[in-house]
Amino acid sequence: MATGTSIHPDIHEDECVDADPGAHVDGRKDGRVDGRKDDGRGVRIDTGAFVIVLANHKGGVTKTTSTANLGAMFAEAGRRVLLVDCDPQANLSETFGWGEDLPSERLEDLLAHPEAAHRYTPPRALRDRIAPEVAWRDRLRIIPATDELADVAAELRTTAGPEYQDRLREVLEPLRDRFDLILLDTPPGRGVLSGMAVHAADGLVIPALAADLDVRGAGKVYDLVEDELPDLRILGVLIAASERRWRVTREAAARMMTDQMRVLPVWVPRAVRVASAPRHSAPTAVLEPDSMVTHAYRQLAGLLLTEVDR
Ligand SMILES: Nc1ncnc2c1ncn2[C@@H]1O[C@H](COP(=O)(O)OP(=O)(O)OP(=O)(O)O)[C@@H](O)[C@H]1O
Ligand SMILES: [Mg+2]
Repeated sequence: MATGTSIHPDIHEDECVDADPGAHVDGRKDGRVDGRKDDGRGVRIDTGAFVIVLANHKGGVTKTTSTANLGAMFAEAGRRVLLVDCDPQANLSETFGWGEDLPSERLEDLLAHPEAAHRYTPPRALRDRIAPEVAWRDRLRIIPATDELADVAAELRTTAGPEYQDRLREVLEPLRDRFDLILLDTPPGRGVLSGMAVHAADGLVIPALAADLDVRGAGKVYDLVEDELPDLRILGVLIAASERRWRVTREAAARMMTDQMRVLPVWVPRAVRVASAPRHSAPTAVLEPDSMVTHAYRQLAGLLLTEVDR
């Protein structure tokens, strides 16, 4: 591996992976990294919010945790952010305490009746009783879900035919003007909901653990995008809950880079408090704004913003 240099002014070398981020230019996607919001002359056409999907077929790789924490850090950075829970496990909703007294419109309702999105104002993600001192709470909104989302998705697949894949994009369309960023948390696997989410997105973040089996998992997502979703811009592999001190994790990350994957240079460390955060109805970035985990997500949010704004 090459030595670490930062691609972001706020990121310190010792917080980066032992790699030169400049060297992991998105080799596999050369020529397509600029994404679809381009008029053909490299000028970005403003079509409202940039939609980022966090996806990986593999389960338990921090898709939900990273969606919640990145969303919070984007909001802290001044962006209007909408989080969308596209997983019937509803872990993202639960992370913010949206397991009970849910608003009338959940994602399953909007998918069934997309016209309702025109008059829908998503609620604040943070419940009123949580962290009242957080000044940016108004900028972080959520479309929660329940386990009924699975039934609605299955029914859509049967009744709407191949067009079902555009349904989430249709739901988000009227909301795009009201947000700067929309983050989609997806279930594991390659099901209907993940399919809709990747079709609705402009950019993809692939959360992964740095371990042997994760190298192949992340590689499969890369292959899928190259084969089937050429317009989706891969923003990078986000490594979380992994110990950079361990040789096995450093080697796994190095293999991803050898495979031409773009590994984001800041890793989110493992911390037991992350696992217990949902019981306090807020992600770590809200509960512990000065922790190492929050620091890492803040830096990652900064990095991703420079990509998205480009
Ligand atoms: N930095 C971290 N340190 C320690 N534990 C973490 C960290 N990030 C996430 N976790 C824990 O790892 C587990 C998996 O995380 P998470 O639920 O975000 O993964 P996921 O990819 O969304 O899973 P699924 O595929 O089931 O949707 C959770 O228990 C979570 O609390
Ligand atoms: Mg999840």
